[in-house]
Amino acid sequence: MIRRVAIIGTGLMGAGLALVFASGGHEVRVTDSVPKSLATLKERVADLLKSLGKGDDIVARITAVPKLADTVAESELVIEAVPEKLELKQKLFEEIEAAAHPDAILASNTSGIPIGRIMALVKRKERALGTHWWNPPYLVPLVEVIQAEQTSPATIEAMMKFLKELGKLPVHVKKDVPGFVGNRLQHALWREAISLVEKGVCDAETIDLVAKNSFGARLAVLGPLENADLVGTDLTLDIHKLVLADLEDSHAPSPLLQALVDAGKLGFKSHQGFRHWTDHEITVLRSTVANHLKKSFT
Ligand SMILES: NC(=O)c1ccc[n+]([C@@H]2O[C@H](COP(=O)([O-])OP(=O)(O)OC[C@H]3O[C@@H](n4cnc5c(N)ncnc54)[C@H](O)[C@@H]3O)[C@@H](O)[C@H]2O)c1
Repeated sequence: MIRRVAIIGTGLMGAGLALVFASGGHEVRVTDSVPKSLATLKERVADLLKSLGKGDDIVARITAVPKLADTVAESELVIEAVPEKLELKQKLFEEIEAAAHPDAILASNTSGIPIGRIMALVKRKERALGTHWWNPPYLVPLVEVIQAEQTSPATIEAMMKFLKELGKLPVHVKKDVPGFVGNRLQHALWREAISLVEKGVCDAETIDLVAKNSFGARLAVLGPLENADLVGTDLTLDIHKLVLADLEDSHAPSPLLQALVDAGKLGFKSHQGFRHWTDHEITVLRSTVANHLKKSFT
């Protein structure tokens, strides 16, 4: 049974995860290699709780611990939420395993690096898996539970049960493919979106208008394969015969995307990406997304 949870990395996802587990009544121990990030964690979680209209008594279940070994030693579950760098995660899991209880479940919150690669230096691979949460994890219910080649079915089962008891919606990803399920779907769409702009079919604003005001408006209640069944697999087949050969199928990032990054056009961060963004537009869009998620999931 999982009672105590350790979180490594107290950034955006680590703070959200601490809130989720503490809200579920668990004892949470957190650590971070940057003292300021660790020192501000409880305050950030208290602010998040306030924004959700919840009392900050939940924060009392969270303990900030300076040393990694002390953080993981007595936890039944250890979740890593450090930056998306393979070597960093590999070394960290070697260190985590050396200090954790032999029965502890070791989980990475990577957005898409195969779990088998991240756990390369771990000995008890049957206890290691991926749990891909979506931001913000205290609002979005879905968690992809990724089974690497050597993850035991019992470990998957224990994690799925734990997440269901927390009120989450875990899904079992049975093969350890890059990007898992959600990010593969998202980025297949983004590749085509970028390609359409690159080919001059339409501008970036039109892409977003089309997505938000047509199929995107249905997506929350009608998944892509439900939609295929709704219109009929026969019609789906006819459409695929017509368009698949013409869709973008490049195996490398688009030259347009590369050029934007090379020019320092990094999106919201630099006020210019595929589109230009004023401070006001950025604030409005961020709060529109947050309000939409709150309305959908609380
Ligand atoms: N941001 C998202 O929307 C999102 C969603 C799903 C998954 N993820 C994944 O979650 C992970 C964390 O992402 P994030 O957005 O929270 O990043 P972040 O940069 O906000 O936080 C990472 C934290 O890890 C700390 N850290 C770095 N090296 C460390 C070490 N050796 N030991 C302990 N702490 C260390 C940093 O100081 C920082 O506080 C990444 O793998 C990311 O791909 C992110």
